[in-house]
Amino acid sequence: MAETFDIELLNCSKRYGDINILDDVSIKIKTGEFITVLGPSGCGKTTTLRVIGGFIIPDSGRVSIRGREVTTLPPYRRNIGVVFQNYALWPHMTVFENLAFGLRIRKLPREEIARRVDRALEMVQLTGLNDRYPRQLSGGQQQRVAMARALAIDPEVIILDEPLSNLDRRLREELRIELKGLQRSLGVTMLFVTHDQEEALSMSDQVVVMKSGRIQQIADPRTVYERPANSFVAGFLGSANFLPGSVAENRPAGKGVIKLANGALVSATMPGTIETGSNVKLVVRPEWMLIDRSGTAAGNQLQATVSETIYEGSVVRYGLKLDHDPSSLVFLQERSSGDTFNPGDKVTVDVISAVVTTE
Ligand SMILES: Nc1ncnc2c1ncn2[C@@H]1O[C@H](COP(=O)(O)OP(=O)(O)O)[C@@H](O)[C@H]1O
Ligand SMILES: [Mg+2]
Repeated sequence: MAETFDIELLNCSKRYGDINILDDVSIKIKTGEFITVLGPSGCGKTTTLRVIGGFIIPDSGRVSIRGREVTTLPPYRRNIGVVFQNYALWPHMTVFENLAFGLRIRKLPREEIARRVDRALEMVQLTGLNDRYPRQLSGGQQQRVAMARALAIDPEVIILDEPLSNLDRRLREELRIELKGLQRSLGVTMLFVTHDQEEALSMSDQVVVMKSGRIQQIADPRTVYERPANSFVAGFLGSANFLPGSVAENRPAGKGVIKLANGALVSATMPGTIETGSNVKLVVRPEWMLIDRSGTAAGNQLQATVSETIYEGSVVRYGLKLDHDPSSLVFLQERSSGDTFNPGDKVTVDVISAVVTTE
């Protein structure tokens, strides 16, 4: 029997005019999974979510919820809880009425509605605020009401569009943990949309990285960060140095040796076997390098001169120019506890980890 998924988006495309807003998008989400769609503004995240929610019908492709095709069904016939980016609470309705609205559409009896509203408010720690109006609530509380409204319908899945992005940083981090805890304890399947890479990495089982309506990579947080499928993914998730080079050698177990423009040899993880001599990019994150203080010459080292020293509290960032490649500027990041180097210092850099991308 074919495996069924809580949410299955199959080859969905959507055009406005002659622009592909979604281009052959497929996403499969298993029961209880927390999936994040991550990408820059305008890449099609909201459109993806709206296709799943039933607010947009794709030009081609299929949407299924728990094995039932819903591609053309209206939102209220999908049993999906939706949390919109701007909360979308009705300002003239109390908290109770905001939550009860979707339950009335579903024709639930009065006592059942009251019970569900109370239960949903309890889940988001807003017990007793039934009679407040949205304007009488803080941003964080409004966000919780929006969440409770999605939970009240007892949804098969919940989809959330940048639910935390209107909040200040501390509250955002607090709610991130709360939301993740709620998802875990309820075991409910969630699809979460964000442009914030930290949010995506810290909350998700799987991250879907999008650019211009196309999926670039779907993988767990560690894989998208440490084994990015291409330069876009590498650059969008955290900071990365891109060093042009060519393949000097393929080695077993997905490893290889890259020769950089200045002649240095660096071993790296390869996305597969790549013909020797091919031009590639070496991706090295700032924390994947350390300044060598031992003075021993070994492999995987780069000679460089410090051009900038930036103290950031817990870490120090260095801008480095590689020897024999003066146009290069490479950033390296270390814990601030060791001895610090100054602009003009000659240093040897150990490359601890690196990955190769071809596009
Ligand atoms: N109704 C529409 N008509 C024309 N273009 C649209 C419409 N809705 C969205 N778009 C365009 O589709 C692209 C993706 O939008 P959206 O899915 O909202 O992106 P995101 O949520 O990732 O910021 C944007 O370039 C946007 O301008
Ligand atoms: Mg959006």
